[in-house]
Amino acid sequence: MRHLLNPLDFSVEEISNLLDLANDIERNPDKYSKLCEGKKLASLFYEPSTRTRLSFEAAMINLGGSVIGFSSASSSSAAKGESVSDTIRMISCYADICAMRHPKEGAPMVASLKSSIPVINAGDGGHQHPTQTLTDLLTIRSLKGRLDNITIGLCGDLKFGRTVHSLINALARYKNIKFVLISPAELRIPSYIREDVLEKGGFDFEEVTDLEVAMPQLDVLYMTRVQRERFFNEEDYIRMKDCYILDNEKMKFAKDDMLVLHPLPRVNEISVEVDDDPRAGYFKQVQYGVYVRMALILTLLNLVPEDMK
Ligand code: NCD
Repeated sequence: MRHLLNPLDFSVEEISNLLDLANDIERNPDKYSKLCEGKKLASLFYEPSTRTRLSFEAAMINLGGSVIGFSSASSSSAAKGESVSDTIRMISCYADICAMRHPKEGAPMVASLKSSIPVINAGDGGHQHPTQTLTDLLTIRSLKGRLDNITIGLCGDLKFGRTVHSLINALARYKNIKFVLISPAELRIPSYIREDVLEKGGFDFEEVTDLEVAMPQLDVLYMTRVQRERFFNEEDYIRMKDCYILDNEKMKFAKDDMLVLHPLPRVNEISVEVDDDPRAGYFKQVQYGVYVRMALILTLLNLVPEDMK
């Protein structure tokens, strides 16, 4: 039995197969509409979510399966003091697969040790968010046609933004990727990514504070929200929250085919006027998130159709 806890749990070849499967689902949704009949997904969300939870649920329903679960810690037995290990042992009796989001780093990994069903990490604290990464990879591959030879700018809260951590880990496995890390000094990428991944791997990367200066060289710009819930005090958040705002003026510095992504939710970091720019890819990204989660559920449940294996 396999889990997805970290974006590196799948090899590059497995990811490529998964993205091919997601593209096939996009082209032929009817072929997949009954493959999970009789199967249940448990969605265990101890932290707020709109897209990730609903896209997992939509994915399972699109596959003909059904969904059980909870959408906040306060409405589950966690509020009574139940451990994640006990919860998962019980959920294993009710469901065939589960997606877990938790504010504590490593909680889905702890759950996987006691689980008899596949566990998908749907975001653990400021750590990792592998299914957002699969979404990002599918979006980049589908809209840019490749996952190698890309200069990607990651902008905003690189310290607490788990989507950025996962995406760097995943993209670091492709050829000729350049990372431009755009953040205020206080929200720099953590050293376990800078030193252990980027420096050790000898990657081409730079850390800058100015978005406009970075912009002209980028093929992809990945904007992120300042992660208010992970700040120790509100004053720091308020000081930092509008550190970058992408608007039409700044888009003038970008290449004509630069792709703008954002895991969403957005607060102020992308002005709504940019939504009408053909380079804005963040709402398409949401749709790709459903296809890739459908592909992931089928893969972990060993239900991939013969012609896509
Ligand atoms: C992200 C998350 O939860 O980390 N959202 C998402 O899953 N699409 C990004 C964020 O909350 O800023």
